[in-house]
Parts: sequence; structure tokens; C-alpha cells
Amino acid sequence: MPVELPQWLKDLRRSEIVDRVRHDPRSAGGTFLGVDFEVAVHEVIGGGQAEFDQPRNDLSADDRVLLYAYFNQLGHLEELAEAFRMLFADASRPESPIVVDLGCGPFTGGLAIATKLGHESRLDYIGVDRSRAMRELGEKLASAAAELDQTPRIDRHWSPDISSVTWDSAPGWRPVFVIVSYLLASPTLDAGELIGELEGLLAKLGRGPVTVLYTNSPRPEPNRSYPSFRTALLDAGFELSDEDTGSIEIERWTGSRNRRLRYALFHRRNQDILRLGEE
Ligand SMILES: C[S@@+](CC[C@H](N)C(=O)[O-])C[C@H]1O[C@@H](n2cnc3c(N)ncnc32)[C@H](O)[C@@H]1O
Repeated sequence: MPVELPQWLKDLRRSEIVDRVRHDPRSAGGTFLGVDFEVAVHEVIGGGQAEFDQPRNDLSADDRVLLYAYFNQLGHLEELAEAFRMLFADASRPESPIVVDLGCGPFTGGLAIATKLGHESRLDYIGVDRSRAMRELGEKLASAAAELDQTPRIDRHWSPDISSVTWDSAPGWRPVFVIVSYLLASPTLDAGELIGELEGLLAKLGRGPVTVLYTNSPRPEPNRSYPSFRTALLDAGFELSDEDTGSIEIERWTGSRNRRLRYALFHRRNQDILRLGEE
């Protein structure tokens, strides 16, 4: 079955992203906020790795992030929605999960998981992104989604980096899902350091089961940090469940087509064994 996003999400994207780009007076003459397709994709968005908070010529940080959501976010949403469908098909739907979305962009992982949990569910979403404009568009999409009454109740916690995440609840046993969608493409990211910081956050959240979902482009360069990411997770007690380069069939208004991606899935069970003698 091809992946197709639910109507509420298509409508949300249309009103909050697509129409805002298309109806902007600068988009006259077939441009996107005044820039042509090649410039938008390669220079303004920079393959998703731009310094989004820096204005560029006549484009503000908010404009750059809006163009990211317009061009790049949809494919990532489709991939993650399919990954959660497969995850929840094997197991029952998780109760009150905590979602940690690293390099979250505009709430991409939150929208994806919301497509697979009913409106009676609730979850906490921790969105970490160094870009203020990404976090702000994320919160805008999250609050617009909440108005629709079709998504789970999602309590949002936004942060520019992992170490500044504030978590006031006592550590518990809730299942945690960590999403790493197209973050590792960033050439400056130190994957070992990232997992070290993640471990600190996971310890604050509790000792419940943790699932890490990695998605990326199938090209080799954006995956250059994957081997050290994988090693750091294995050293932190995770087991690799699956890793591959594959494709999913997606259904869009233009018809169906295949989208290729690189993905990996890691699990760590409840940490309910007291290891005597360990520091
Ligand atoms: C390609 S986008 C992916 C966004 C989102 N995960 C998605 O799939 O749509 C990469 C995001 O990571 C953020 N980012 C890059 N390096 C980061 C870092 N060191 N810490 C936090 N966020 C970072 C960028 O601001 C950008 O929003």
C-alpha cells in the first residue's frame, strides 16, 4: 500500500505552508518567495543544512524555514509516518510515550507520530533544533494541529540543544522514541558527542524502553557520520534491529512514486537490572 498522509495533515500543510508560499506577493512569476527553484533548494535551504536563522538577501529566517517546509518536509513526514506505522503494527500502541526529535525542524517527527496515534492518546514531545525559526514554525504547526481535535494531546518542550532541555517530572518508565531524521547530514555534527548528550537526557526521562529511529538520504555523504553514531549507540547498550537502504511508495496528488532512503532502528530495553559493582 502506498503511503498517504491523512487529510488533516494535508490540509494543515496547505494552509500553514503551501498557501503561504504560493500566495505571497513575492512568489509572482513562478518563483518561491522571489527566488527560483534552484536557488531555493541549493542556496536558501542548502539541502537542509543551511544556517536557517541567518537572513539571506531579501529572505528572513522565517522565509528560509518556510521554504524548507515547502520543499523538504513532506518527504520526511511520509518516511517517518510509514516507519511509525510499521513499528506500531508489530507492537501495541505505546502508552504516553515521550518523543525526542533531534534536529526536529518544523515539528516533523511530532506530526508523523500524530498520524499513527489516536486523538485519545497523549504524549510529550521534546523538539531540539538549533534554529529558532525552525522551532517557531514547529510550534505554529503543533498548535494548529491541536485545534483540529484529531491528533493526540501533545505537550511540547522546545530547546536549541539537548543539554538545555528542561524536564520537571521525576524519572519514570515511559517508552521513549528518539527521532534522528536527516540530522546527521550536517558535516559539523559530532555523532559520539550527540549520543553522549542524549544519554544524559534519557537518564532524566527515566529507565523505560528506548527506540531510536534514524532516517536519511540514501547518498553516502549525508551518512558519513552514521558509523560513529551506530557505534556510540551500541556502546550505550542499544541493539541494532534493522538498517538498510530501501524505498517506500508514496501517493501524492501527482500520482504514486518511489522514494529512496537510508534508515536504521535501534532498541534498548527497560533498564530494570541493578548492576552491582558498577560506578
Ligand atoms: C535537514 S533538517 C531536518 C529537520 C527534520 N528532522 C526533518 O526531517 O524535517 C536538519 C535540522 O537540524 C538542525 N540542526 C543542524 N545541526 C544541529 C545541531 N548541532 N543541533 C541541533 N539542531 C541542528 C537544523 O537547524 C535543521 O532544522
